[in-house]
Amino acid sequence: MPDFSFMPKNSPIGIFDSGIGGLTVAKAIHDLLPNESLVYFGDTAHLPYGDKSAASVRKFSLRIARFLLENDCKMIVIACNTASARGARAVAKWVGKEVPVINVIDPIAQHVAQHFHGQKIGVIATKGTVNSRVYPRRIHAITRDVEVSTRATPLLAPMIEEGFFNNNISKAVIHSYLDNPSLMDIKGLILGCTHYPLIKREVSAFYKGSVDVMDSSLFVAGEVVRTLDEKGLRCQSDCEGKLSFYVSDFTDSFRQSAGLFFGERIDLQEARIWD
Ligand code: DGL
Repeated sequence: MPDFSFMPKNSPIGIFDSGIGGLTVAKAIHDLLPNESLVYFGDTAHLPYGDKSAASVRKFSLRIARFLLENDCKMIVIACNTASARGARAVAKWVGKEVPVINVIDPIAQHVAQHFHGQKIGVIATKGTVNSRVYPRRIHAITRDVEVSTRATPLLAPMIEEGFFNNNISKAVIHSYLDNPSLMDIKGLILGCTHYPLIKREVSAFYKGSVDVMDSSLFVAGEVVRTLDEKGLRCQSDCEGKLSFYVSDFTDSFRQSAGLFFGERIDLQEARIWD
């Protein structure tokens, strides 16, 4: 078990995703731990990850993990399901002795395994996440007593990234994905992409309250708190709680969305780590 207690406690928590989706996780962490500094990296140059090969997503994840370590992060949160499915093992193997690494899949898999015995749940996610079969594998590693049905919803992340949510177009796309035999009779639905909390209201409206629509960000934020406590890495009272946001390719939509989540305090820079 690596010892992290010697690390500077006021170092930032590093968080990454392909774009704005991981901001839902960053916001949940910030709400629980407002004094912690955060460094967020959105790999907008490679968005969407959902259609990329496993090897590419792994390569992107490793490079971004290095960027976060170069920025003195004390923990890495892989705030992307596709990268958690494809790259989390490689990241943990590579930097797991230097900093704790948290993915977005295990905390919610644990919750579902505990609370949905004898029931069917659905997962909507990118093609990469669905093809990896990571959700059925992680849940069934804990219990075989939950039926897990997955459905790839590849249009959703680019649609959300372009700012299309809470309108007629998003409603039509969401309905045509959810109205599918594979998702019949589910009791819970995992939003298996960190972009999807932005359409949670529309998904819940489709089910009219009959399905528990689950967003992993709160579970992940809880896991971050537990891990910081366990490793003795919580920031001290003099920590400035600085929020830094980087993208690999500057986009105005990212700036606007980051502003929506974090308001005025946003300091957005371009980090051309792929040049
Ligand atoms: N937010 C991401 C996820 O959780 C990735 C979406 C994408 O880039 O395709 O999978």
